[in-house]
Amino acid sequence: MRKLTVDLGERSYPILIGQGISEQITRHLSDRGILPSSPLLIVTDDNVASFHLQKLKAALEAGGYRTCDFIVSAGETSKSLAMLEEIIRVALEAGLDRNSVIVALGGGVVGDLAGFAAASYMRGIRFVQVPTTILAHDSSVGGKVAVNHRLAKNVIGAFHQPELVLYDTALLQTLPPRDVRAGFAEVIKEGLILDKEYVEWFSDHLDALLALDPPTLEKALFEACRIKAEVVSQDERENGLREILNLGHTIGHALEAVAGYGTLLHGEAISIGMVGAAQLSEEFGRSQSITDTTRDLLKRIGCPVTIPRELDTDAIMEALMHDKKFREGKLTFILPLDIGRVEINKQVTKEQVRRIVDGLKQEE
Ligand SMILES: NC(=O)c1ccc[n+]([C@@H]2O[C@H](COP(=O)([O-])OP(=O)(O)OC[C@H]3O[C@@H](n4cnc5c(N)ncnc54)[C@H](O)[C@@H]3O)[C@@H](O)[C@H]2O)c1
Ligand SMILES: [Zn+2]
Repeated sequence: MRKLTVDLGERSYPILIGQGISEQITRHLSDRGILPSSPLLIVTDDNVASFHLQKLKAALEAGGYRTCDFIVSAGETSKSLAMLEEIIRVALEAGLDRNSVIVALGGGVVGDLAGFAAASYMRGIRFVQVPTTILAHDSSVGGKVAVNHRLAKNVIGAFHQPELVLYDTALLQTLPPRDVRAGFAEVIKEGLILDKEYVEWFSDHLDALLALDPPTLEKALFEACRIKAEVVSQDERENGLREILNLGHTIGHALEAVAGYGTLLHGEAISIGMVGAAQLSEEFGRSQSITDTTRDLLKRIGCPVTIPRELDTDAIMEALMHDKKFREGKLTFILPLDIGRVEINKQVTKEQVRRIVDGLKQEE
């Protein structure tokens, strides 16, 4: 098992990563002062529940914890106020009190939803992340929790750090291949922004990674969480540095919105977005080799690197203009300076982006 600490003063917490570690969940909870005295609520989705819920419940109950659970439908639409209200109902009915804990067993959807429920129930109770996707290396660390509004994603939320992240690689073995590949796009993003050596290691171990070989996966998730934790420790509330984690996300979010949520997976959209960011960087004089390395690696992971033809360029541009990063005619983009190094560039013009978006469609 590997251990990291997210360093946030009194809100610091450990990330534990390893094969089979959720079997010892009760020991890890009691190490964090979470005791069986109050009932505990597990929030999960129907896919994850079918594979992993009973075992986790059994481990908790064997340790004397009283558990109840709430299972949402898998997918982004469950990140809603309606689901939040349901969780609060279940929590009240089960008698959760201020010492209770909510356990998020699932990917980013469950983590964001359950985390926001914990942030709001009785003005905030503790919560624990048990991530079950690769993408969740990102969502489970850093305390951003939210649900969606009909008009926009993640706009009803809070910063609420978990007490513990328990990342059991055994739980990831049941992931569908497409989610594996999309998750790795977000993992490689961490390397592209801050760690060239990690990108090289990742590239050298790609076959083992795609096969979800446990020790290789453990190392990959550890390094990705380490990079995320470092950034979050320095800028918990995204006043500056944390923005760099958005590499590929400006174009990516626009593509997700135009394609319709769920058509392109989040990791797939940012895969395309990262290639776009590298090409934009060329407009500022950086080497084409950054684009080539980025594109080749994402292609080998099995992620898309071009924009599907049917997505309308005007609609993509429109979605980009709605992005909160648009100010005074210029867009803010995270651009690679090299592999493992990025800048926050506030000088990108609409025309430059349009050229890149058009180009990414032609390449298909
Ligand atoms: N809070 C943050 O900082 C942050 C960061 C990045 C992304 N996010 C959010 O994360 C969400 C995306 O996360 P995601 O990609 O993990 O999506 P997800 O939670 O929807 O999981 C993807 C799919 O995999 C299934 N699944 C999950 N674990 C599984 C397992 N072990 N075996 C089989 N199937 C499994 C799920 O049921 C779902 O169908 C988005 O809502 C995004 O906004 C949040
Ligand atoms: Zn992301």
